[in-house]
Amino acid sequence: MIQPMVAGGRQRLVSADADPFAEPVATLSARNLDELRAEIGDCRRCRLCAGRSHIVFGVGNPRARLMFVGEGPGRDEDLQGEPFVGRAGQLLTDIITKGMGLKREDVYIANVVKCRPPENRNPEPDEVAACEPFLKKQIDLVRPEVIVGLGKFAVQTLLQSKTPISKLRGNWHRYHGIKLMPTFHPAYLLRNPADKKLVWEDIKKVIKELSGENT
Ligand code: URA
Repeated sequence: MIQPMVAGGRQRLVSADADPFAEPVATLSARNLDELRAEIGDCRRCRLCAGRSHIVFGVGNPRARLMFVGEGPGRDEDLQGEPFVGRAGQLLTDIITKGMGLKREDVYIANVVKCRPPENRNPEPDEVAACEPFLKKQIDLVRPEVIVGLGKFAVQTLLQSKTPISKLRGNWHRYHGIKLMPTFHPAYLLRNPADKKLVWEDIKKVIKELSGENT
């Protein structure tokens, strides 16, 4: 069984002495997620601000052992200000609750960009560059043991790779020292339900890792 947290602190897979987040987040002084949200403010750092209803910062346990990272808010998320609340979000919630036996509140969920790209297009490189420091800082503050990267865009951004998601998924990678499992995006699964079994294989590896069965 996965323990959402370990009493008296958390066992960490990340080495304590290395500071993997030294550079681009050094300018962000936030000491917790609330301060980081305040630092983002009514963001105008890129053109995505023009069409948004809400900044979709992130949601969940600030000390989560497991973090999911998606691409960016869609229409439902933009309207509600919370990540993964539309149809794809329901599928992600099922993976967390029915698949992993966790609650949505046990994990942390965020996106590469925090404002909805028009017509759900992929974020442009300068939009990612403007927003990525906030994701990095979120990861730095939560310090999860495992990150699940959802879909090609999020995974390729985190890993700075052009390798297709079909090749990356299912294998462990590292993001600044943190274990990263790439898998298909839930929206892709809505279009390709036959690949749900592959995502389940990836999620089983994550469950095993968090259960300490790999140590
Ligand atoms: N797709 C994403 O990548 N993120 C969301 O929050 C919703 C849909």
